[in-house]
Amino acid sequence: MPDRVDFTDIYVDDEIVERVAETLRSTRYVKGDRVEAFEDRFASNCGTDHAVAVNSGTAAILLSLRAAGVGEGDDVFVPGHTFFATVSPVLELRANPVFVDVNPETYTIDTAALEAAVERSESPTAVVPVHLYGQLADVVEIQELADKYDLTVVEDACQAHFATRDGITAGTAGTAGAFSFYPSKNMTVAGDGGMIVTDDEAIAEQARRYRNHGRDDAGVHRELGLNYRLSDVAATVGIEQLDRVTAWNQRRAVAASRYDDHLGSHPSVTTPTVAEGANHVYHLYVVQVPEDHRDALREYLDDNGIDTGVHYPTPAHRHPAVTERVDPPTLPTTEALCDRIVSLPMHPRIDDESIDRVCEAVEAYFEVVA
Ligand SMILES: Cc1ncc(COP(=O)(O)O)c(C=O)c1O
Repeated sequence: MPDRVDFTDIYVDDEIVERVAETLRSTRYVKGDRVEAFEDRFASNCGTDHAVAVNSGTAAILLSLRAAGVGEGDDVFVPGHTFFATVSPVLELRANPVFVDVNPETYTIDTAALEAAVERSESPTAVVPVHLYGQLADVVEIQELADKYDLTVVEDACQAHFATRDGITAGTAGTAGAFSFYPSKNMTVAGDGGMIVTDDEAIAEQARRYRNHGRDDAGVHRELGLNYRLSDVAATVGIEQLDRVTAWNQRRAVAASRYDDHLGSHPSVTTPTVAEGANHVYHLYVVQVPEDHRDALREYLDDNGIDTGVHYPTPAHRHPAVTERVDPPTLPTTEALCDRIVSLPMHPRIDDESIDRVCEAVEAYFEVVA
C-alpha cells in the first residue's frame, strides 16, 4: 500500500550511497573530516557561529543543558505535550522538570503559563521550548521571558529543521538549539544522530569536551564526559541530506495544504493551525478528532491500508519515570490533546493521490462508520 512508508527508501538515494561508500573506503570512521564538514555546513545553514555533532537529539539536549551549567536542583520548564526525550535529559542532570501546558492552537509551550510557572519557582534556571510537529514555539516571547528572569533557553528543534517564525530559524533564538536526525525526521543520517547549534563559543567548546570523554586539546580528562560522538559515515549522509532538506520541507508544506483544503472544513476534524509569521515544516501532520472516535478512526484507516500514529498518547508528565520523581501537575490542554490527536501520513514523497485517498477514508469513516 502506498501509505506504508519505508523511510530508508525516501531519504537515501544512489548518490548518498556512493558518498557513504567513499567514506567507508577512507577508513576514517570517527573524528574525521566528514563530521567537521557537516558541522560547518549545518551551522552555516542555520546562521549560527557553532554546530557540534553528537550521536542523538537526546544527547544534543543533554549536553546543551549541561554545558549551560544546568544541574542538580535547578528548575527547567518543559511543555507537557512532547516526546519524552525533552524531559529525560533534565532528569538525568538531576534538575527538576517543571511541566507547563501548551497553547491549544499551536501545541507549543504556552507563554502565559510559562511565566506563571517561572514566578512560582524558587530556582528558575532554564526552559526547553519544543518546536513540536515542525512549528516553532513563540521564541520571541520566550526570549523576552528568558531575559526578564535570566533563564537559559535550549530549543528542542528535533522536529523542526529549518522551520522559521518571525524570520528566526529553529534552534537559533536561544542559548542553544538541539536537533535530531532519527530516521523519521525531516532530515536524517540513516541512523541515530544529533546536532547542537549555538553562538556561544564556551558552550560549544564545553559540549565538544563532554561528547569526547571530557578530554581537552592536550588529551587531559579534566572533567567527566562520555562518548556522544557522531560517526563520519552518519555525517556523510547528513551533509548530502542538508542539500535536499529544503525541497523536502517544501513538499511537506504542499502536502499539508492539500490535507488542509480537503479536511479543513470537516465538522469532526481540526486541522493544524499555523501561527502568524510561522513557516511550518510539518514533521508531522496532526489533526484532532473527537476522543470517542480517535481509536476507531485509526483502526478504520489501518483496515484501509493507511498507517497513522499518535504523537503522543501519554503526556510527558504522566510517565512513571517522571511520577516516581516529581508530583505530576494537571495540564488540561495537554491531557485533552493526547486523547484526540492522530498523525496522518506525511513524508516528502507522499503524492496527491495518496493524500486524497487518506482524506476520503477519513470522510468515509465519519459518514459511514461513526
Ligand atoms: C521533540 C523531540 N525531542 C527529542 C527527540 C530525541 O531525539 P533522538 O531520538 O535523536 O534522541 C526527539 C526525537 O525522537 C523529538 O521528537
